[in-house]
Amino acid sequence: MNYENLLISIEEKIATVTINRPTKLNALNKATISDLGKAIKLLGKNDDVRVIIITGSGEKAFVAGADISEFANYTIVEGAQLAAEGQEKLFDFIENLKKPVIAAVNGFALGGGLELSMACHFRVASENAKMGLPEVSLGLIPGYGGTQRLPQLVGKGRAMEMIMTAAMISAEEAKQYGLVNHVVPQAELLDFTTGIAQKIIKNAPFAITKAIKAINANYKDGKDGFDTEIKSFGKCFGTQDFKEGTTAFLEKRKAEFTGK
Ligand code: COA
Repeated sequence: MNYENLLISIEEKIATVTINRPTKLNALNKATISDLGKAIKLLGKNDDVRVIIITGSGEKAFVAGADISEFANYTIVEGAQLAAEGQEKLFDFIENLKKPVIAAVNGFALGGGLELSMACHFRVASENAKMGLPEVSLGLIPGYGGTQRLPQLVGKGRAMEMIMTAAMISAEEAKQYGLVNHVVPQAELLDFTTGIAQKIIKNAPFAITKAIKAINANYKDGKDGFDTEIKSFGKCFGTQDFKEGTTAFLEKRKAEFTGK
């Protein structure tokens, strides 16, 4: 499928989705959000894909935010609708996807861009990356989950300060905060992130899916994460991959997982 503002490649079970509006610093307009949602949905169902990497085109930006030119004249109702639709179609959808989604943050990740990276399961940044939630400088608050996911990742005090000051932090600060897992030179970002994806692929797909579900349960209202873990743990015992993983260990060989 072709998308106006996305480039997608699939190689050795790793899909790389590149947001491609470099002249607008890859700002997320509605069409791009909708296409990203559709693309991730299809890749989620594609048996040739085990891990998805999201990045931005060019050397300057991952995503410099939601497209300000689109919502500058919105009403209260339209504003709430924009946030609700975006959260449902893309941000929550990514967080709950059954396959790992990694953000390769290659430059500015601001507003909706940082929120997109935070909806991914984890983040790797290039040395030039700059991150922030500058919405209050526009008279707004983050609307794509930023007020919820930033405190989960960096703690309440740091999130309060970042959101209230609208300030950007460097990649190194983001690493100290626990917002990104690794910082690497820009030229190495995609290879490094692909290397992590390759490690993930060696493990049992059903177990990875259940791990995502159990970890996410801790952050959902009305869910008991420990209970989700118990049930998910139990389900793993019903898979061929569990038999293969334990048998391979006992036979001192590498497991060959089939996803069954
Ligand atoms: N929405 C719409 N357009 C955006 C954008 C956004 N979030 N971020 C950048 N752009 C556009 C600029 O308008 C400019 O377009 P133009 O060339 O047609 O005028 C182009 O991308 C390049 O951006 P520019 O501001 O010229 O680059 P810069 O290097 O001077 O500054 C930033 C980079 C990231 C600091 C600056 O673009 C910025 O502050 N962007 C908005 C960040 C923001 O508030 N995001 C949260 C939105 S909720």
